[in-house]
Amino acid sequence: MRNFINLKDIPAKDLRKILNDAKKRKNNRKAFSTLDTDKDQPLKGKLIIQMYEKQSSRTRLSFYIAINQLGANSITVKASELHLGKGGESLADTAKILSTYGDGFLLRTDSDKKIEDFSKHLKIPIVNLLSPNSHPCQVLSDVFTVEEIKKKSISKLNICWIGDCNNVLNSLIAASVKFKFNLNIGCPKNYIPPKFVMDWVKKNKRKINIFNNPQKAAKDADVIFSDKVFSLNDKGDKAKKIKDFKNYRINSKLMKVTRPNSIFLHCLPRGNEVSEDVFLGKKSKVWQQALNRVHVQKSILLYSFGKLR
Ligand code: CP
Ligand code: NVA
Repeated sequence: MRNFINLKDIPAKDLRKILNDAKKRKNNRKAFSTLDTDKDQPLKGKLIIQMYEKQSSRTRLSFYIAINQLGANSITVKASELHLGKGGESLADTAKILSTYGDGFLLRTDSDKKIEDFSKHLKIPIVNLLSPNSHPCQVLSDVFTVEEIKKKSISKLNICWIGDCNNVLNSLIAASVKFKFNLNIGCPKNYIPPKFVMDWVKKNKRKINIFNNPQKAAKDADVIFSDKVFSLNDKGDKAKKIKDFKNYRINSKLMKVTRPNSIFLHCLPRGNEVSEDVFLGKKSKVWQQALNRVHVQKSILLYSFGKLR
């Protein structure tokens, strides 16, 4: 059993194995309906418990489908309805109960520490469904989408992120180290990635390029990534933050400085950081990106259950 909490803690060869498995499984399902199980039903008989302490549309639904396609069953529990928290049951006891009834635990929370604490007390694998510092399932799936569309290794591409230095970007930075791709970041001076992230990049002898000018960051990019300026865990002055990013909006003028076959990706939900014509335009692959979450998350679950072929 293995946890899937942060991309930085997972060996590159395991991440590649997950992507290879996802590709095979996706190819093998061409004529299947949404809830048809994969032929081998590798998680038949398992119960996977999902818990969301914050909103989710894509993660919740894509994991529901992924779990069913693997032959397992899932239940989503609401944090507000558990004894943990309001009812005063300890995290350790809750973890014991989850391990007694369930075979896997998937958690979206506003505390990285809570995920670490759960991982210490659980006897079943835990998967991070988004935390303040990390969105590993999203980003590994996005690497899959990039390689699927570009038909080449991401290590041969120029990847650019325009926007806030948030959980998704932290995971993208970790991916840039694991998969060795060039990463340009375009963000205002006060919003650069946190020191612990930059230190980790340095320790791993890689470099990321930070620009306080979106045009320079996006030049010759194969892929432009973005995300909401104000994330779920953000506190503070939303209007000010959005104003600080006003020159970093992705529009057709910015897309012109990218490579001719460039694509636009966004994890959703979106805000004002991208113009409607780019988001709904030909370069945008956001729906394919959302659907691929199902395929990659299946292989993430198999990795966690020690069942990757
Ligand atoms: N991209 C993503 O994780 O979306 P949700 O917040 O809807 O799950
Ligand atoms: N950075 C965003 C991602 C949402 C999927 C957030 O944390 O709200």
